[in-house]
Amino acid sequence: MIKGARFADISVTETTAFPMIPADAPSPITVVRSVQDLRRVVQSWRSKGRSVALVPTMGALHQGHLSLVEIAKARADRIIVSIYVNPTQFAPHEDFDSYPRNVSDDLSHLEKAPVHLAYTPSDRDMYPNGFTTRVSVSKLTEGLCAETRPHFFVGVTTVVTKLLLHSTPDIVVFGEKDYQQLLVIKRLVEDLALPVEVLAGPISRESDGLAISSRNEYLTKPQREIASRFNKILEDTTEAIVRGANIPMQIASGEQALLSVGFDRVDYLEVRDASDLTPVENLTAPARLLGAVWLDKTRLIDNCPVMPRR
Ligand code: PAJ
Repeated sequence: MIKGARFADISVTETTAFPMIPADAPSPITVVRSVQDLRRVVQSWRSKGRSVALVPTMGALHQGHLSLVEIAKARADRIIVSIYVNPTQFAPHEDFDSYPRNVSDDLSHLEKAPVHLAYTPSDRDMYPNGFTTRVSVSKLTEGLCAETRPHFFVGVTTVVTKLLLHSTPDIVVFGEKDYQQLLVIKRLVEDLALPVEVLAGPISRESDGLAISSRNEYLTKPQREIASRFNKILEDTTEAIVRGANIPMQIASGEQALLSVGFDRVDYLEVRDASDLTPVENLTAPARLLGAVWLDKTRLIDNCPVMPRR
């Protein structure tokens, strides 16, 4: 087990991130666990002139992930989906241990999609003994999710850099559901001139508007009912702001609305510039309303575009 602060004392003694794929698992897709094997497959595709797309995930695959696969399929010949519950983006008190893991369901989703390869690296490959390197992006990683999860983005940028170096794709696809993460990754790729194009997929939602998330599984029935109000309150707040209402006042009443429908806590509700996440007080350029709320021990995030009227 990886114990303690998940970056501070990484010394991997056994695999925890993903259970071993059973050797006899029937699977027309290739399941690759080591970076050497992955590179061999990608090299063979490249030698035939095939383009490659990567969709990084932490598993517990749902329609949101699969919508990113569809975007990848429209743009590349060969699709890799990585599944790795990355320990370094969880703080010790967070839900790493209880994060949903279901390898056979994930593989059957990927078979149906279908994709060409599932990459399920081991902790040993990701964080070999003595691992001390960090990849970090500043500015965009201040505020919003970083406020209450200060460890989060350095874990994400480090693991995504590794996934990109392992798979060397032409295209990598991320969801707008994690809007701050998406912009951070775009910045990372641009700053390091990584030879990959970052594509963004829209948020997939349940029929009542709740953004699909692996963490929705944690919700009890009454909590699920409350959760369905999150997006509606974001939309109402957005509509008022677009109509010209005062932004700080709308944010205050949006927060009040969230608490009054039953959310236990609001981590943040903010309007930020859509391309650099600077705080917005007057709507003059495309912006985004971003929110994070708690229902007991479950944290939900969502966001929606806020476009100035022309
Ligand atoms: P995970 O939460 O599994 O999400 C993987 C990708 O799916 C992310 O790009 C996320 O934005 C996207 N996604 C999740 N729910 C979505 C939805 N309802 N609609 C559209 N896209 C959605 O994000 C991570 O994993 C990790 O931080 C990772 C990037 C894999 C690094 O460990």
